[in-house]
Order: sequence, then structure tokens, then C-alpha cells
Amino acid sequence: MAGHFILVALVLLLLAARAAAYPWQVCGKAGNNFTANSTYQANLGLLAAALPTNTSSSPGLFATAVVGADDDPVSALALCRGDVTNATLCSGCLATAFQDVQNMCAYDRDAAIYYDPCVLYYSSDAGFLSSADSLAMTNRINFRNVTTDPGGFNRQVAALVGATADYAAYNSTRRRYASGVADLDGGEFPRVYSWAQCTPDLTPAQCRGCLAGIIAQMPRLFTDRVGGRVLGVRCSYRYEVYSFLDGPVTVRLAAPAGGSKAPAPAPESTVDGGGVAV
Ligand SMILES: *[C@@H]1O[C@H](CO)[C@@H](O)[C@H](O)[C@H]1NC(C)=O
Ligand SMILES: *[C@@H]1O[C@H](CO)[C@@H](O)[C@H](O)[C@H]1NC(C)=O
Ligand SMILES: *[C@@H]1O[C@H](CO)[C@@H](O)[C@H](O)[C@H]1NC(C)=O
Ligand SMILES: *[C@@H]1O[C@H](CO)[C@@H](O)[C@H](O)[C@H]1NC(C)=O
Ligand SMILES: *[C@@H]1O[C@H](CO)[C@@H](O)[C@H](O)[C@H]1NC(C)=O
Ligand SMILES: *[C@@H]1O[C@H](CO)[C@@H](O)[C@H](O)[C@H]1NC(C)=O
Repeated sequence: MAGHFILVALVLLLLAARAAAYPWQVCGKAGNNFTANSTYQANLGLLAAALPTNTSSSPGLFATAVVGADDDPVSALALCRGDVTNATLCSGCLATAFQDVQNMCAYDRDAAIYYDPCVLYYSSDAGFLSSADSLAMTNRINFRNVTTDPGGFNRQVAALVGATADYAAYNSTRRRYASGVADLDGGEFPRVYSWAQCTPDLTPAQCRGCLAGIIAQMPRLFTDRVGGRVLGVRCSYRYEVYSFLDGPVTVRLAAPAGGSKAPAPAPESTVDGGGVAV
């Protein structure tokens, strides 16, 4: 009996670990698949051979491509995150992405895969190339809760994520990316860190609109949580109470005047761009 219970618990644990495993894929609709040795698979192979280096050699570490214009075309989008500066790491991440996603979403005509340094999406429907939607979204929640002044924490996280999104959309010149840090006064954690990213082909307004859509999910997903991220093909953000950033911080918020225990002050925040255009 006890052995049976332990087995069931173990299986559940393994399933949970599997569901949470990095990297994260979003596979397309079941049934919308291609077959082995099809033209679609061959076109995907051409993309896998060229897109990683095409992306890492482009100024924004971003590229789109359509292969097989007349015959079962595949459209793809690849992006390395705004704090990635190493082209080898960028192309390596995307080469791995092509391999992994074709195992994790085997024979799917549409699929997205998310890594910390890169994202890859492909589809038989080229419409997404001109769309400013987040597309194939997924989220990750750090299930640990803040216990001291959660209200103040939630407000400061929202202020930071909003300021980071503003900077990524309106103040970063080439890569539509910004990172941020905010002080937390008097709580359990000294600081909270964030980043926000769009694909660099979006206009500032499209970028901010895409981010606004996924930031609107914060109350539902992340209330009291010490960390979380929403990952989309065209826009993403993340926050944590530890630093996970690779590169300079572009947005800095001071703790709200009067400490985070004070009831909802208008955020007296100072945004310090540091003059870094990313
Ligand atoms: C394609 O999808 C259908 C329905 O989901 C499935 O029965 C079939 O095995 C799939 N084919 C391949 C090659 O994966
Ligand atoms: C696909 O091609 C490979 C290599 O040519 C071959 O071994 C395999 O049997 C083919 N599969 C199908 C389903 O045609
Ligand atoms: C990669 O870049 C080359 C050179 O610019 C271009 O000819 C080719 O079409 C691109 N291929 C893909 C899949 O992006
Ligand atoms: C770039 O990334 C590659 C692969 O991860 C690594 O081997 C190399 O040391 C990195 N180069 C620099 C300058 O960091
Ligand atoms: C964390 O907070 C959420 C929302 O208030 C609650 O549903 C959940 O049970 C809490 N989890 C833990 C581990 O305390
Ligand atoms: C960001 O851009 C906006 C709009 O162009 C501008 O008003 C603001 O001063 C800029 N902020 C920083 C920190 O550069």
C-alpha cells in the first residue's frame, strides 16, 4: 500500500518535473502535421541550416525567413535576447532550438521553443510575419510567495515591469530590449530584477501594445509570487528577486518614498536610462 503510494507520488513528481523542464515548447494544434520526408520537412531543414547564422550575423540578432515560396512554404522567426552579444552563443542556441523543437513537437507544422538566450517559431501560415501579437505564449511562475507586505511588493514589481516595458519599446534603439532593477524597502528581499523584449521589427507602439497585453496577465498569474515570466514569440518579460541578467541594467527604480509598507503611493520612481541604447 505504502509502496504503491510512493510510486504514484514519484510518477506525479516526474510528470511535474517534465512539464516544467527547460526549454519550453508550445506545439501547434494536434493533427496539423507534416509527414516524414515531405517537402515541408525539407524546407524546415533548409531553415535549420541557414537561419541560426543569418540571425546571429544580423545587427539586431533577429531574422525572419520563408523557405519554399511556391511549394508548402515554412515561415520562421528567430531572435536572440537583447543582452546576448556573443554571436556563437546566439547561433548555437538557435541550432539547438531547431533540433529540440523537432523532437518535442515532432511533425508539427507550427511550433515555438523558448530558451533563456533565444526563441524560435515556425509556421505554415506566413500571416504571423506581419502580426504584432505575442503568439504561442507560455508562462512560468515561481510558486514561492512573498510573505512580508505582499501589496507593496506587487506594486513595486508592476512599476518595474511597466518601466522596463516602456524602455524596451520607446528607448532602446535597435534590439527592443531593456533590463531593470528596483529597490524594495523594508521587505524580505532587497531588490527585484526584470527584463522586457520585443522583436526589433515592431514599432515602439506595437511593442508596447504587445507587452501591455501580456503584462495585463500579471494580477492573475503572479500576485504575491517572487518571480514569473510570460514568453511570447513577439514579446516577453520576466521578473525575479535575484539577478538573472546578463549585461547592463537600463532601468532603475528607487523604493517608493516612505517605504514599501506605506499604502499605495503614486510611484515616486526615478527612471535612470544610464544613456545606454540597446
Ligand atoms: C499527424 O497527426 C495525426 C492526428 O493527430 C496523427 O494520427 C498522425 O500520426 C500524425 N502523423 C505524424 C507523422 O506524426
Ligand atoms: C525517409 O527517408 C529516409 C532516408 O532516405 C528513409 O530511411 C526513410 O525510410 C524515409 N521515411 C519515409 C516515411 O518515407
Ligand atoms: C540567409 O542569408 C542569405 C544571405 O543573405 C540569404 O540568401 C538566405 O536566403 C538566408 N536564408 C535564410 C533561411 O534565412
Ligand atoms: C561565446 O559563446 C561560446 C559558446 O557558448 C563560448 O564557447 C565562447 O567562449 C563565448 N565567447 C565569449 C567571448 O564569451
Ligand atoms: C501563494 O499565494 C497564492 C495566491 O495568494 C495562493 O493561492 C497559494 O496557495 C500560495 N502558495 C503558497 C505556497 O503559499
Ligand atoms: C524614453 O523615451 C521617451 C519618449 O521618446 C522620452 O520622453 C524619455 O525621456 C526617454 N527616457 C529615457 C530614460 O531615456
